[in-house]
Amino acid sequence: MGYLISEEAQDLVQDVKNFCDNEVKEQCKEFDRTGEWPKEMYEKAIEQGYHALEVPEEYGGPGLSRVDVAALLEQMAIADSGFATTISASGLGMKPVLIGGTEEQKQRMCDIVLEGGLGAFCLTEPGAGSDASAGVTKAVRDGDEYVLNGRKCFITNGAVADFYCITAMTDKSKGVKGISMFYVEKGTPGLSAGQEEDKMGIRTSNTTDVVLEDCRIPAENLLGAEGEGFKIAMQTLDQARAWMGCISAGIAQRGIDEAIAYGKERIQFGKPVIKNQGLQFKIADMEIKTEVARQMVAHALTLMDKGLPFTKESAIAKCYASDIAMEVSSEAIQVFGGYGFSREYPVEKLLRDSKIFQIFEGSNEIQRIVIANSVIGR
Ligand code: CAA
Repeated sequence: MGYLISEEAQDLVQDVKNFCDNEVKEQCKEFDRTGEWPKEMYEKAIEQGYHALEVPEEYGGPGLSRVDVAALLEQMAIADSGFATTISASGLGMKPVLIGGTEEQKQRMCDIVLEGGLGAFCLTEPGAGSDASAGVTKAVRDGDEYVLNGRKCFITNGAVADFYCITAMTDKSKGVKGISMFYVEKGTPGLSAGQEEDKMGIRTSNTTDVVLEDCRIPAENLLGAEGEGFKIAMQTLDQARAWMGCISAGIAQRGIDEAIAYGKERIQFGKPVIKNQGLQFKIADMEIKTEVARQMVAHALTLMDKGLPFTKESAIAKCYASDIAMEVSSEAIQVFGGYGFSREYPVEKLLRDSKIFQIFEGSNEIQRIVIANSVIGR
């Protein structure tokens, strides 16, 4: 895929790989065990500007294409997919502003990111998961302010973000056209992080409820017009899904790397197990799937970079890549045999980490609805 990436990004790929080898890969084993959010590790990553890779050049960002950024994000995911998820979820939090915000709102948010801030996207609620339009969080206009009340859940970066893009109902009678999108900064009275999830995988990412209790924000923090929130949220997810495919491809690549390294070391019947054609075919199948997933991600992101329609391709990339991340992780465990089932070895973590990619940012069943809507029509 190197031919798709700019020269500048090719140098950065090596920098990111070195950073991840030195600061992320080994360290995350322990954080995976404890579930602690590795603050210092993230501070170092933020110092490198990895959380700001998606800031557009006109607002002070590095001017990389999405395909460039994907090459970097995959390196992060190879080291630890919770780390890559935190970085990517911050980009997810930026998207509603970049899609629906005014120039002033965009610049303000990008300045916060460039100063080291993380973002979060808050759509899901206890009663509104796949049915994203069923949220009951409310925003009531009061003079020059809106007052937000409700509870969002499963929010990546929920307790560590510096700004939040939040959907809330401004006119229930209008259904999805009564949902609006708001920009809320950390420290706003009435906004707090709720319960932190004790997750099966991506344990180095922070996932919490976000609670809104009489949270007053200036009316100018509305993104787009009243009633445009659902559309902005869907457009945000359309873009974001390919990124989940990218992280999934990184998990699969780690599975291949670990399986090959172990297969060369492990001696059975007097030779390294990798000498067996049965195992070689398994590795070849893992490689086929991972390479196809990577190409799909690059295809969806290239369409985005070129301003062409990408909804279907982004959903396909997310759906396929997350499905194969599960398969490839499972096969990596199979290569390790009994040791693969042990927490002492790195591959069981890949299986735990990959599962969520079939679920969040729209379950793979929802992706199939999106894909079917694209090819059949709504
Ligand atoms: N772009 C623009 N507009 C869109 C759109 C899109 N991709 N998809 C739908 N819309 C518009 C439609 O055009 C329609 O408007 P009109 O009537 O004017 O045409 C309106 O939105 C409603 O569309 P639907 O009737 O299709 O909506 P729906 O209620 O049936 O839902 C859905 C569609 C695709 C299933 C949607 O609910 C969905 O994506 N669900 C999954 C939610 C999801 O991905 N959640 C993940 C949260 S993020 C996350 O996980 C956070 C984290 O931190 C990890």
